[in-house]
Amino acid sequence: MTDAATVDGTTHADKHTPALEVHGVRKTFEADNAPVRALRGVDLTVEHGTFLALMGPSGCGKSTLLNLVAGLDVPDEGTIKVAGEEVTGSTEDELARMRRRHIGIVFQFFNLLEGMTVLENVALPAIIAGRKRKAAETRARDLLDLLGIGDKVSAMPGVLSGGQRQRLAIARALANEPTLLLADEPTGALDSAGGQEVIELLSRLHSGGQTIVLVTHDSDVAAVADTVLKMRDGRIVANDAEVNKGAAEGVTAIGTL
Ligand SMILES: Nc1ncnc2c1ncn2[C@@H]1O[C@H](COP(=O)(O)OP(=O)(O)OP(=O)(O)O)[C@@H](O)[C@H]1O
Ligand SMILES: [Mg+2]
Repeated sequence: MTDAATVDGTTHADKHTPALEVHGVRKTFEADNAPVRALRGVDLTVEHGTFLALMGPSGCGKSTLLNLVAGLDVPDEGTIKVAGEEVTGSTEDELARMRRRHIGIVFQFFNLLEGMTVLENVALPAIIAGRKRKAAETRARDLLDLLGIGDKVSAMPGVLSGGQRQRLAIARALANEPTLLLADEPTGALDSAGGQEVIELLSRLHSGGQTIVLVTHDSDVAAVADTVLKMRDGRIVANDAEVNKGAAEGVTAIGTL
């Protein structure tokens, strides 16, 4: 069965290669008693410039899918391509390079380096990717300015508010100009003011052409996405897809029911 939810995608490097292609992905975890079939056949295509929100009940496989796309874990079956490059089947080195180039990830609980300054937190991924410290710090300053925390460059993350911490985490995820910004419940640990800051920021990044795929339980976050896809029991439930803004060519989800 095939259903499609579509939205507009803006242009990026290669318009013809989708930002993300997920095909026939399955993942089972071996738990104590019985295996947990976390993903039971996921197909998804996301065009450049799209903002996709994945929703669904706890345990339906959202984080598992995001982690596989990020190359943090491997599927049992199926393929995942980011900007035409396989996340699956790569060597460790290729995977690390692919991840640095194409993936920026933001977690619910920030995962900041608490012993480093705000500036160092953002500059580090670019330095690891091989950029000169000076260039990395210049870009980090620009990003922090853009994200509204340019005055905090010398601060330690511990003094920031929740919303500021998450904006810092987003700045860090953007350090290497990733094809895909992935976020797992980016407002999940924030109060409503902090959540609103992050929602406005995501919306602004999307307007600037950033491709975003995130998982959320927050309907206010979903409201600023182009497309909301629901997951249930390890599958994308295509029939429940809601398109927030118009219909065009951005996301195709195929529920393999
Ligand atoms: N490393 C693991 N080992 C064993 N089981 C796992 C592992 N990771 C996830 N699972 C199981 O796989 C299923 C899907 O988990 P996942 O974290 O993807 O859910 P989720 O949709 O993100 O839920 P939530 O909204 O609560 O974050 C769950 O039943 C979970 O217990
Ligand atoms: Mg989760």
